[in-house]
Amino acid sequence: MKATAHAPANIAFIKYWGKADEALRLPLNASISMNLSEMYTVTTVEFIPDLAHDEVRLLDGDFSKQEIERVIKSLNVVRNKANVKYFSRVATQNTFPKGAGAAASASGFAALTVAAFAALEVKLTEKELAVFARMGSGSACRSIPDGLVEWVDGQTSDDSYAYSLYPPSYWDLRDLLVVVDSGMKKVSTTEGMKAARTSPMLSARLAALPARIAYLKEAMKRKNFQQLGEIIEEECLDMHRVMQTQTPPLFYWNDTTKKIMDAVGGWRKDGIPVYFTIDAGPNVHLICEGKDEEKVMKVLQSRIWLCQKIIVNKPSDGAHLVSTHLF
Ligand code: PMV
Repeated sequence: MKATAHAPANIAFIKYWGKADEALRLPLNASISMNLSEMYTVTTVEFIPDLAHDEVRLLDGDFSKQEIERVIKSLNVVRNKANVKYFSRVATQNTFPKGAGAAASASGFAALTVAAFAALEVKLTEKELAVFARMGSGSACRSIPDGLVEWVDGQTSDDSYAYSLYPPSYWDLRDLLVVVDSGMKKVSTTEGMKAARTSPMLSARLAALPARIAYLKEAMKRKNFQQLGEIIEEECLDMHRVMQTQTPPLFYWNDTTKKIMDAVGGWRKDGIPVYFTIDAGPNVHLICEGKDEEKVMKVLQSRIWLCQKIIVNKPSDGAHLVSTHLF
């Protein structure tokens, strides 16, 4: 009754910001992302009949009390579905800093969901796994399928799921994550999103999204990188405009974030096709094609004082079971 899963983080090209249903984590809008090859979580879960309570450990750091409670909530959902009462031992490890806008909750809850159901030998479809992962953390549902993924907003819990638009091999894209601050973010996405509706910009954003999503899908279909990049930047700025005009306002960028955003336009003028996107933190994801990775690295290295670390990601598979356990 022990299983281990590997799940990637993902970077959203179309972002999720705001919920239609808080408890079920139904989003206000559909979103689209790419799974990241070098940023992932590995989680082992074992359900043990004589355990007195759940034992949850992060091997490369500490979980806060709230984080442990959130993991236990997900374990309860799994236990309910499987009709099992045993407590469990959970160990988890990330390849990147959690809480720094690098979506550790996405990979974390995707890995937990896949490992926990497998540990109880409950076989679910990919769609069902995505629905359960979503209940732990919205963006986690996008870490279940492979490659480039859409999370359908849906009206009910069962139809708010994610599916693969294209496999990882479809398009040789890169996400260079420029880590400028690896500390915990001050306001979690769960908290921050609760105030999304207080932004006067939200209704315009929701009205614009269906056309933006269609345009992004067209860019993906045609592998038109310039079109993809322009939508990614427009979308990132649009989500941050909503965050920054909420009450209270949320500012995730720092001075270095802004310096990098500013530099990207200049690099494009110099002939390097690269675009930025940023989630709920100060770190900047630079999106380019594989053929331009070296050029982007070179200009970044000329400003290495801006970055603590650069993580180079390719598109990757979604969550899957692995045979090496953490305990
Ligand atoms: O599901 P959460 O709580 O990790 O929220 C993710 C929110 C953003 O990263 C800002 C956007 C997104 O779609 O990933």
